[in-house]
Amino acid sequence: MVSKKLQLAQQYEELLGRSISARERPAYHLTPRIGWLNDPNGFSFYNGQYHLFYQYHPYFVQWGPMHWGHAVSKDLVRWEYLPAALAPDQEWDKDGCFSGSALETADGKHLLMYTGVRKEPGPWGNVQEYQTQCLAAGDGLAYEKWPGGPVIGSDLVPEGFSRRDFRDPKIWQEADGSFACVAAILTDDGSGAAVLYRSPDCIHWHFCTIVDRSSNCLGTMWECPDFFPLDGKQILVTCPIAMPETHPEYRNHNGTVALIGTWEADRFSREQVQSADYGFDFYAPQSMLSPDGRRILIGWMQNPCSSQCPPHAKWMGQLTAPRELHVHDGRLIQMPIAELEQYRGSRTAYEKVILNGALSLPGICGRVLDMNVTVEPGQDCTEVRIELAKGGTYRTELSYDPKSGLLTLCRAHSGFTPNEDCMRSCTTPGGRLKLRILLDRCSVEIFVNDGQQVMSAVIYTPEEAQEITFASTGHALLDAEKYDLEF
Ligand code: FRU
Repeated sequence: MVSKKLQLAQQYEELLGRSISARERPAYHLTPRIGWLNDPNGFSFYNGQYHLFYQYHPYFVQWGPMHWGHAVSKDLVRWEYLPAALAPDQEWDKDGCFSGSALETADGKHLLMYTGVRKEPGPWGNVQEYQTQCLAAGDGLAYEKWPGGPVIGSDLVPEGFSRRDFRDPKIWQEADGSFACVAAILTDDGSGAAVLYRSPDCIHWHFCTIVDRSSNCLGTMWECPDFFPLDGKQILVTCPIAMPETHPEYRNHNGTVALIGTWEADRFSREQVQSADYGFDFYAPQSMLSPDGRRILIGWMQNPCSSQCPPHAKWMGQLTAPRELHVHDGRLIQMPIAELEQYRGSRTAYEKVILNGALSLPGICGRVLDMNVTVEPGQDCTEVRIELAKGGTYRTELSYDPKSGLLTLCRAHSGFTPNEDCMRSCTTPGGRLKLRILLDRCSVEIFVNDGQQVMSAVIYTPEEAQEITFASTGHALLDAEKYDLEF
């Protein structure tokens, strides 16, 4: 039975989604069918296609009572909208269906696990909020909520931990057929943790352990934990709120970190911590295992603190390009998924161009593209600059100091209000620099040195700004290979 609330959302998106032409959206980054999108949810492969749900407020370009929007894809690049899957229509989720995940059950159902948010008047006229973990199951198109209500209710929260900040279950099935999930929770020291629950059947759950916690060192609350094995290590990806931005690794305030370690007998031993993205906009990512065994991550390409909205927006919020993950030398490595290369159209390439001053290269321009750039700085080189989405007063600048290795992305002239914080940096080993740059109308994603670091940013620059230029102080050798992406 489709509830009135869900029916309304489905009718609304069907009708108003049509008012947004393909040209008004990015070419290959998923945006909401209409209205607002935040976190990716339920990223999974089911019935021959990839499913991606998203935190969704169809009625406005701002966050509001959360629904789950739904899209499917054969190749993770071209997405097709399906009707919204969940609406806040039950007593236990009436104030929002928050983030969650999905898997396929043994009997062929597509199972969604999400956070139900319920507000109730408290004893002193205050409002008390409860976040509990709930289920819905479906056939890839229509979903029914588990009628019994939350399967991980407030009663299963360990003593002293928050019942209000307890959300974002990421579920998986173990080799023995049992189920496990990690969720984010606010602990008794006022900062976040990722907790593990286990269940034999997905219905009856018990608290198992604290996987890892901030202890007030990695931000306050944690959101959207994800936990998976990769290349012999175990990775906990999580999003700390209010990270101490003074540390160059965590300039993003509300960002995403990867904790890399080992996992044995339900004990996580943390070995390394790194930012998952050094740009402005990467939050609440979720991973899935593709049928051919790749660990693929997709994130919300927006900083939760950003108030930027494109002019006359009919949609707000987009997801990143999916990234394939690896661990190498104790670091998380991320590169765009291979499927994107199928959409490479016309190629323009230059090799060993001598850079000493500024230049542009005929044909190296555009806003929907995939580009490799390699810079070999000479002895006298003190700076290399690449300007993207350039035209009129607009440009998005990448500057590189080959001596210190500092790579800086600046969007002061990208069309954002100038009082926003406009610079992000990451530190590379210096010397030769290799970049893979994805542009898609209103975003740039920069994969540095074969995915050692990534910098993602939305740029609401008018599309007429198509130029790309290169400049150096001192000599450098430049290779540039650009493909237009064609859909
Ligand atoms: C992260 C987040 C999640 C929550 C969802 C609500 O952006 O705050 O913790 O489930 O968004 O939309």
